[in-house]
Amino acid sequence: MVANWKENPETEAEALGLFRKLAKIPRNRNTEIVICPPFVYLEKIAEEFKNLESRARLALGGQDIFWEKTGAFTGEIGPTMLRSLGAAYAIIGHSERRKFLRETDEMVNKKVVASLEAGLKVILCVGEPLAIRRQGFTAAKKFVRRQLAEDLRRTSHIKFQTSSSLVIAYEPIWAIGTGKNCPPFDAARMAAFIKLQARHLKPPVRVLYGGSVNSKNIADYLKNKEIGGALVGGASLNAAEFGRIIKAAGSR
Ligand code: 13P
Repeated sequence: MVANWKENPETEAEALGLFRKLAKIPRNRNTEIVICPPFVYLEKIAEEFKNLESRARLALGGQDIFWEKTGAFTGEIGPTMLRSLGAAYAIIGHSERRKFLRETDEMVNKKVVASLEAGLKVILCVGEPLAIRRQGFTAAKKFVRRQLAEDLRRTSHIKFQTSSSLVIAYEPIWAIGTGKNCPPFDAARMAAFIKLQARHLKPPVRVLYGGSVNSKNIADYLKNKEIGGALVGGASLNAAEFGRIIKAAGSR
């Protein structure tokens, strides 16, 4: 279960407060929680993380990563830098970055390869826009298939360390932050399709669903065995609500 805070909260004090609350949520044996704050808060949060009584099934992640480890790349942060802070994951290819920062599949692919090679676990986001979805489910599958083919180029040779080394999040763009969540049956069908497209990767990838997930709808997603968890935006900024989501995930 991944908490993507996006560009929130506004101050470091609030970020630390939120992290402390999320870290206190009881973690079920089969649920791992990954918290992805903005980069600027990561160092302080990583210090808190290291001092927690129990870090079992809790991890930190970045919301993006650059493909070079170091160099003249103003503003960028490399996979080793992120790992050296104690973060285990990076979200890559989120639709908001593809839209607002014009990230292409070629860039996403470079980030995926560099991260995996550096031992950083990857949460790769894919998903179709509304205009494609309106054409039907087959069009949506075609869109996602092309994204996966491009985003996962040159990954077959990489030896994944664990089954969570590469996680793919299906986030239909029209369901993000809109309250219009994707019907769980469709999300499960797409998750199965994604696993089929990534079947050459060993161990098999896990697929998450993301888009307007909350404590009321999470159980409907997780009852499908194809869906291994959720990538949660807005609801991860509210510790009580995220706690209810985690509770529901634990009882599936
Ligand atoms: P919301 O949960 O706010 O819809 O955001 C989903 C998302 O984009 C997570 O990465």
